[in-house]
Amino acid sequence: MRTPIVAGNWKMNKTVEEARSLVFSMSLKLREIEGVDKVLCPPFPALLAVSALLQGTDIGLGAQNLHWEESGAYTGEVAPNMVAEFCQYIIIGHSERRAYFGETDGTVNKKVHAALAHDLIPIVCVGETEDEYESKLTGEVVRRQISQGLADVDPVKAAQIIVAYEPIWAIGTGKASSGENANAVLADYIRPALTDLFGADTAQAIRIQYGGSVKGNNADEFFSQPEIDGALVGGASLKADDFVAIVQAAAK
Ligand code: 13P
Repeated sequence: MRTPIVAGNWKMNKTVEEARSLVFSMSLKLREIEGVDKVLCPPFPALLAVSALLQGTDIGLGAQNLHWEESGAYTGEVAPNMVAEFCQYIIIGHSERRAYFGETDGTVNKKVHAALAHDLIPIVCVGETEDEYESKLTGEVVRRQISQGLADVDPVKAAQIIVAYEPIWAIGTGKASSGENANAVLADYIRPALTDLFGADTAQAIRIQYGGSVKGNNADEFFSQPEIDGALVGGASLKADDFVAIVQAAAK
């Protein structure tokens, strides 16, 4: 049995003060929910403050990006050991980073290796565009993103990786995939691609989230699917009640 994991990707939202008040408004309720791994991923400037608030709780902390080099002349970038100072998790290869900041399967792969070398748990995002979906290219796209993004990862470390399947047409649109469609992508393409890379046992251990317009009122549809092990939540993770409802749905 894989423990479900729900992560809130706050994207480029919340100042430090706003981050503090969002954490205050949900941490007590989140802590009461058992049987689900819970993770908050605020923007970089809020990590220190949020990490202080999460001390002694079972709520994990993640960042939204990292560079693969250890240090050096990379203006504006954040090194893996700087992330690892505060965080246990790291989102890698989000479609917004691929679309707006030139990330490729190659840079995703470097970041995954860097994260694992620093004992960070990567949440690796994959998913197809609307055009690819309509052209029935979903399988080809997510298989390539998995095989190249996770190339040469040590199978022993691979079991801790989390994959987030986020169809781009469902992100921030309110137009979520159906649970059945998302489950089929995981079963037909993502889990088999993981099996090719790491073997069946490790592939079965890897948790796969769904992301894209998950809300408190549709979360059940995803979590009742056998392949879906949680969610990567954008907009609804900025609303305490909605995020708590999603985590509660994952605990059922
Ligand atoms: P929304 O939940 O806002 O659709 O965003 C999903 C996402 O991109 C999470 O990483």
